Amino acid sequence: MNYILIGDSGHGKVIEDCIMANGHQVTAKLDDKYEELFKEDAYIKGPISAVHKLLNKETKIIISIGHNAIRQKIVERLQVEEKQYGTVIHPSAIISPSAIIGYGTVIMPNVVVNAYSTVENHVILNTGCIVEHDCLVSNFVHISPGAVLTGGVSVWEGTQIGARASINPTLQVGKWSMVGAGSAVIRNIPDSVTAVGVPTKIIKERRIVND
Ligand SMILES: CC(C)(COP(=O)(O)OP(=O)(O)OC[C@H]1O[C@@H](n2cnc3c(N)ncnc32)[C@H](O)[C@@H]1OP(=O)(O)O)[C@@H](O)C(=O)NCCC(=O)NCCS
Repeated sequence: MNYILIGDSGHGKVIEDCIMANGHQVTAKLDDKYEELFKEDAYIKGPISAVHKLLNKETKIIISIGHNAIRQKIVERLQVEEKQYGTVIHPSAIISPSAIIGYGTVIMPNVVVNAYSTVENHVILNTGCIVEHDCLVSNFVHISPGAVLTGGVSVWEGTQIGARASINPTLQVGKWSMVGAGSAVIRNIPDSVTAVGVPTKIIKERRIVND
């Protein structure tokens, strides 16, 4: 399978490693820092709008941008069919057979997704994070490296859980919020806030989703 990465950045390099570990390759890297299509090394590069020219049956798209709101905006802008997005799972990840994994989602090395969890679309499960049993990870969420969602946790659309943060069982983390690195979440977190610390305290409202 050939992949088109949207976003030519550091995050894309990690995703490319995952794609190659599965025996597939990246053939194009599109980014709006480029004005027109050109060839560099083994890649076609160019603006994001060129994706429609490059797509075919043997090609899948991954949006390789770590910022959740920008990932969402690009999906809205592209208007391509769901089936044209790939799902990339590094071979070292352990995914329960009963887990459901959506499209456009990337699962990095050493991630664990346990029984009956659902990971929706355009999600990033970053290196070594753990999604325990019966969790819900909604669209456009980013679970950062080493973070732990214990059993029955729900993380709603667009939220980022910082590196090595942990969320206690059955808690809900609202939409478009941010949980700081290393934080311990012991109560539900509402929509559109930044929460940090052990245990977490809310330190600010996020006025717009790309704060
Ligand atoms: C939570 C976070 C987004 C806050 O960033 P910010 O909005 O720029 O906030 P500031 O750095 O101005 O910090 C505000 C206050 O929160 C505290 N704080 C920030 N992050 C914290 C954290 N992770 N744990 C505890 N306290 C934290 C700061 O010390 C500061 O406290 P003060 O007002 O008493 O001085 C950021 O610190 C963070 O943890 N990001 C996660 C990074 C990450 O995991 N990335 C993964 C990439 S793959």
